[in-house]
Amino acid sequence: MIISSINYKSFTPKNPYSTKNKNKNMAPYLFILSTILLVMITSGGATAKVPAIIVFGDSSVDAGNNNQISTMLKSNFRPYGRDFFGGRPTGRFSNGRIPPDLISEAFGLRPFVPAYLDPSYNISDFAGGVCFASAGTGFDNATSNVLNVIPLWKEVEYYKDYQNKLKSYLGETKAKDVISEALYIISLGTNDFLENYYTLPNTRSKYTLDQFQDFLVGLAEAFIKEIYGLGARKMSFTGLPPMGCLPLERTTNYVNGNGDGCMDGYNVVASHFNVKLSNLVKKMNEEMPGIRVVFSNPYGPFMQIIRKPSAFGFEVASVACCASGMFEMGYLCDQMNPFTCTDANKYVFWDSFHPTEKTSRIIVDYLLKHSLHEFL
Ligand SMILES: *[C@@H]1O[C@H](CO)[C@@H](O)[C@H](O)[C@H]1NC(C)=O
Ligand SMILES: *[C@@H]1O[C@H](CO)[C@@H](O)[C@H](O)[C@H]1NC(C)=O
Repeated sequence: MIISSINYKSFTPKNPYSTKNKNKNMAPYLFILSTILLVMITSGGATAKVPAIIVFGDSSVDAGNNNQISTMLKSNFRPYGRDFFGGRPTGRFSNGRIPPDLISEAFGLRPFVPAYLDPSYNISDFAGGVCFASAGTGFDNATSNVLNVIPLWKEVEYYKDYQNKLKSYLGETKAKDVISEALYIISLGTNDFLENYYTLPNTRSKYTLDQFQDFLVGLAEAFIKEIYGLGARKMSFTGLPPMGCLPLERTTNYVNGNGDGCMDGYNVVASHFNVKLSNLVKKMNEEMPGIRVVFSNPYGPFMQIIRKPSAFGFEVASVACCASGMFEMGYLCDQMNPFTCTDANKYVFWDSFHPTEKTSRIIVDYLLKHSLHEFL
């Protein structure tokens, strides 16, 4: 915790060790400093801290990489980001921050994780955390093709590029340290089902549902092994949310004449897939020396929020804040829409596919207690 406050201060504009203190008696400062150093040395080694958060995945964790590519799936305009720092739309699919930002803050790092393709950041920023995620992507190449976004293999190419830059910036030894001690957040899979399997007849003709899930788990395994091979060791593998309760899926359910509840079939698929992912995580921990992967499963807490929103301070769970709340996201979630809610904190969902910052915060708090505490 002491180390973390130092890390955090280095990002604040006011430097407490500035020349202003020059003429004052430095003895107390030196004493505190040497105490801190002692604590750092004695608590070092086995409990080495997480120096960076490194993110792979889809819109659940994309901090704005899609702003820089030619896809229709963007969110770098209002009302997105209206509750972010400075009310700034960044390309995060939220009214405010997204889970990696909140996790980074909880680990004593910056209160946000910047997107690798964002030109306003450089390697000195990325040394403390970086996001390679791309909204709309999936494990399967066919998924990222649907909306012309960054495929997972390309996220890994960017990660290799990042490693090279990090090595020239920090030097080989320090860079290797960051790479092996960083926490890797991996969050994707929803689009493989909703955009790909249930949308593309071609995929359904190739695989049964069970075969498709196994195919995805195989890709997930190959991905873990690849970043392990590149030096990653501490990983949080995120499960699927109850995707049948996303407002867009409820609307589809309704249009199909099945009432206005959640699409139960999709929730069953998400639960099954989560069991397979958690088995994969178990297997990776057994097979790969030195690896530490946790399975971070948002399904339970997310479902509790949806079932009993009032218990968490929400008023609405079935439709989203943005526009009609039934189907809009991306460009359809428009600044001028008069139906957009004024207080996103009353809503579980921000747009028809993504939670509000408040929902993300509740889920992250849960994960910090149930899986991520391993690395704190
Ligand atoms: C990164 O950007 C900052 C400010 O924009 C600049 O001062 C610094 O030199 C840059 N660092 C590198 C390694 O390019
Ligand atoms: C996805 O595409 C990349 C680049 O073309 C290729 O290397 C990789 O093998 C593909 N993955 C699968 C599972 O087909």
